[in-house]
Amino acid sequence: MLIDFMKLPYKMGGLEPYISKETLHFHHDKHYAKYVETTRRLVVGAPYEKMSLQSIVLASSRKGDEKSQTIFNNAAQALNHAFYWNCLTENPHEKPGDSFSKVLHKSFGSLEQFEKLFTESALNCFGSGWTWLTISKGRSLSIISTQGADNPLIFGLKPLLCCDVWEHAYYLDYKNDREKYLKNFFKVLNWKFVEQNFYKSSFSTRTEIDDMPVPPVS
Ligand SMILES: [Fe+2]
Repeated sequence: MLIDFMKLPYKMGGLEPYISKETLHFHHDKHYAKYVETTRRLVVGAPYEKMSLQSIVLASSRKGDEKSQTIFNNAAQALNHAFYWNCLTENPHEKPGDSFSKVLHKSFGSLEQFEKLFTESALNCFGSGWTWLTISKGRSLSIISTQGADNPLIFGLKPLLCCDVWEHAYYLDYKNDREKYLKNFFKVLNWKFVEQNFYKSSFSTRTEIDDMPVPPVS
């Protein structure tokens, strides 16, 4: 089976009081589990059966037929959530390391400004979606929000960080207060994972995302 069900890299209550055990239980064990289970079921007998999850997402994106769209929606949600679990930690650092702080400073002015712009993008994401910090082939950083299950990879961008802004990610803890969820998201953000993604990012071996279209403006 090429589609893994990722265990949480922390205890179910490890993100409290910012993200409750109850939220993580429903989010990981119910919502995420369903996306993985549905993807596994739908790819049986399809051209996607032997592909990795990321390849399924790229191959099923924008195909135009209903079956591919359903596979894309579930596979991308499985991929997005696995990335999101890694973006959180029960041992957070308040700030990124000095080197990556300089990168953020150069791109956004300051860490505070980055968090402000990221939050604004998340608040402006209408309905269900995701907010991302991404890196382009030219190694420029940008903040984008995507609708539904979309992942920056389908727009030729590599994700460094994401925040799930579907209501199921925060409604039990914050009801409709997405802004408060964002504020507390930064308190359990795994900067080490973000930095790792930045320093290992290279498009030289990622031929599968060459010639992808330019992303929409969030
Ligand atoms: Fe989610």
